[in-house]
Amino acid sequence: MAGLKKLIAGNWKMNMLHTDGAALARDIVDGADKVGCDLLLCPPSTLVSWIAETASGSPVLVGAQDCHEAESGAFTGDISAAMVRDAGASYVILGHSERRHGLGETDSRVRTKVTAAHSAGLVAIVCIGETEAQRDAGETLDVLSAQLDGSLPTDGDGDAINGANTVIAYEPVWAIGTGRTPTLEEVAQAHAHIRAHLEHLLGEAASDIRILYGGSMKPENAGDLLMIANVDGGLIGGASLSADSFLAIAGAATA
Ligand code: PGA
Repeated sequence: MAGLKKLIAGNWKMNMLHTDGAALARDIVDGADKVGCDLLLCPPSTLVSWIAETASGSPVLVGAQDCHEAESGAFTGDISAAMVRDAGASYVILGHSERRHGLGETDSRVRTKVTAAHSAGLVAIVCIGETEAQRDAGETLDVLSAQLDGSLPTDGDGDAINGANTVIAYEPVWAIGTGRTPTLEEVAQAHAHIRAHLEHLLGEAASDIRILYGGSMKPENAGDLLMIANVDGGLIGGASLSADSFLAIAGAATA
């Protein structure tokens, strides 16, 4: 099925030191010309500039895993969107469930971060997804709508949301790092719902916005997941820490 060019994004989370990270990035850069999808590496912030240098001159994109919503100031331990950009990244993951659930990030906080990312010229990858209890209660689609409503600045307080500045990642919380995934039908339903809700919010601009699936994607299941309509790529955690498995997933996205 014709669709958007797929994006395979690696979320390294809090893994990798300088030497390992550079070797992983180099192996991925070396394999990048054999795949037909976009590749993005999101290392921890300590490595962003190093990985950006490693990837420079290659098609591999680099992103960070979070940024603060303020431009600068007394926010010990945080980094701004402009700092992410300055380090050589062009993407930033926002609202990952490990930040929503582990650090209490709300939709409205994520929304301010999306605005900050856009102001700095970054593409925001906005993560949404239901918990297991919400799925069991039949609330999945309502949760996704509410997260999109709350997390996307659609009311004129930032740049207009479009496919050039925003990516959505659907990541069921219970599928992250667990080896469990929704059925292909459940993924198809969630992604179709997200696309329809984006259309409701944004009109025609919705058709260019990539919607990634994330949560225990690996070489064994990537082909099936990436064939589903409205699955425009993957956000990969564990399987992005090996060049072989990351590139195998990218190969499945290309097929
Ligand atoms: P996982 O993580 O692939 O290890 O499940 C995905 C994510 O958290 O982005």
